[in-house]
Amino acid sequence: GKTYEHLLVSSPKPGVGFIQLNRPKALNALFTPLILELNSALRDFQADKSISAIVLTGSEKAFAAGADIKEMKDLTFSHAYGSDFIESWSDLVTFLKKPLITAINGYALGGGCELAMMGDILYCSSKAVFGQPEVKLGVIPGAGGSQRLPKAIGKSRAMDAILTGDNITAKQAGEWGLVAKVFETPEECVNGALATAEKIARYSQIAVKAAKEVVNKSQDLGIREGVEFERRVFHGLFGSQDQKIGMKAFAEKQKPSWTNE
Ligand code: CAA
Repeated sequence: GKTYEHLLVSSPKPGVGFIQLNRPKALNALFTPLILELNSALRDFQADKSISAIVLTGSEKAFAAGADIKEMKDLTFSHAYGSDFIESWSDLVTFLKKPLITAINGYALGGGCELAMMGDILYCSSKAVFGQPEVKLGVIPGAGGSQRLPKAIGKSRAMDAILTGDNITAKQAGEWGLVAKVFETPEECVNGALATAEKIARYSQIAVKAAKEVVNKSQDLGIREGVEFERRVFHGLFGSQDQKIGMKAFAEKQKPSWTNE
């Protein structure tokens, strides 16, 4: 595969793509070269038929300490607006149809918190620190935080975090449902994410893709339209071979062997 300057990319388990942000000197601050590499690595995993689920992590100290403040500090309105600054970030999730698990250790602040929330499933360890401290810099979240955080933890808690810039602890993140699981150590967190990705990779990739698509719709649609959308996709799956394989295997007390067709 390709080599990257700011990422470590591998496939440590069957069907699983693994990306580690690797800009230790700046606590994985998200500057444009890193974001472009991340887009490229995610696109390659999306295109790779042998990869079915992806884990994204940082270091023990920092998932990512935010957008790169030094890169942004002299940015003008006309340049930010003209170049659609941060637009390249939205790429990270819009094209990705395969499940993305973010394994968060250490700081996930500002753009780091926003990147973490772009995951389909979030796992963290007990010393992870979340927050949207942009207000302290005279700005606001710029990569989806003002929308995804309230959806994840409710308006009042999100307002509290975004207006004060105060951190959210791992314990709060677990209790409020920002993350699906809180592990004791960073190593357990990454291993837990890899194990979940491996589990997902063993199912029919048709069913997995459809499941991600319908759950994502719940974030944008009302219940009635969302349930109608779910029904259409559910009906569509009866046109797949894997539906026949999965249900026949159950009836015959066999293990299914998926074709992804
Ligand atoms: N941008 C650029 N550089 C950063 C950075 C960032 N977001 N976060 C950390 N760094 C750099 C530091 O400048 C420092 O570099 P030098 O060694 O060259 O001085 C290096 O990483 C190590 O950081 P610290 O010495 O500060 O480490 P610490 O352990 O004392 O503190 C921290 C850790 C509390 C996370 C602190 O680094 C910090 O507050 N970082 C900024 C957090 C922040 O404000 N993030 C939001 C950014 S704005 C944003 O993200 C906009 C958006 O919505 C898209």
